[in-house]
Amino acid sequence: MKYFCLIFVCLFKNLVCLDYDGWLNIKLEHNINCKNEKFCSRGNISLKSIRAGTAIISQISFTKDHIDELKEIADLDGLYSVRSLVTSADSKETEFLSSVKAKLFLENRLSDVISSWILPNGEVIAVTFQVNNLSQNQSLQYHKGEYPINSNFYVRHVDLAPVPDTASYIQKLDREREAREKGDLKDNRSFLAKYWMYIVPIAIFVMISGVTNPEPAPQASR
Ligand SMILES: *[C@@H]1O[C@H](CO)[C@@H](O)[C@H](O)[C@H]1NC(C)=O
Ligand SMILES: *[C@@H]1O[C@H](CO)[C@@H](O)[C@H](O)[C@H]1NC(C)=O
Ligand SMILES: *[C@@H]1O[C@H](CO)[C@@H](O)[C@H](O)[C@H]1NC(C)=O
Repeated sequence: MKYFCLIFVCLFKNLVCLDYDGWLNIKLEHNINCKNEKFCSRGNISLKSIRAGTAIISQISFTKDHIDELKEIADLDGLYSVRSLVTSADSKETEFLSSVKAKLFLENRLSDVISSWILPNGEVIAVTFQVNNLSQNQSLQYHKGEYPINSNFYVRHVDLAPVPDTASYIQKLDREREAREKGDLKDNRSFLAKYWMYIVPIAIFVMISGVTNPEPAPQASR
């Protein structure tokens, strides 16, 4: 019964959680060509519906200044960092930071994968930024003085595995044992009061069998 209840509660919770939907905005910032600031705008990703997962990505293309700075960082084997500021229908702004080797980002022609990891209740637990591995080593695309960045965005739904709660289970066992001991101490009713439910049927049975065979039939003598 206890396990049944547990399973039922989990199912119910999941049902409620799967019903969740809402909008999501991710403001992307990066650490190149920012003048005095450490981070400056790179673009936005917005979703009308987390469940549908279709995103509108709008990002600025890199200029020669961006590329020059990225190359400088790459020469020092430094990191290109992206800061994501997430806002959603139910939660306040949360911030995530990801970094990749600047050299890798350049080599893969500014092509990246951005993933938003979302719990069943709609809470965003991480935004990751990774470089796409394009196997061919080609030069950067260049179009009208700009270098377009190529981002793929994915919504990843995360299910939390149930964690065994050993400490509280042991406490519960202790409480149950104590209750049992206390119960035994308190139970000082008389023998009859405690066991009448066993005694009464036996008494009735004895009475009934006494009524139906009053005496053994007298043996016929020859
Ligand atoms: C991102 O959104 C902000 C505020 O909504 C806006 O000011 C900015 O221009 C947007 N950036 C891009 C690249 O669309
Ligand atoms: C990228 O892909 C190529 C070819 O598929 C592979 O040889 C290379 O090891 C990969 N690089 C990384 C960093 O995974
Ligand atoms: C890619 O090409 C650049 C020069 O065009 C070179 O410096 C770099 O080492 C190459 N990377 C790989 C993984 O072949």
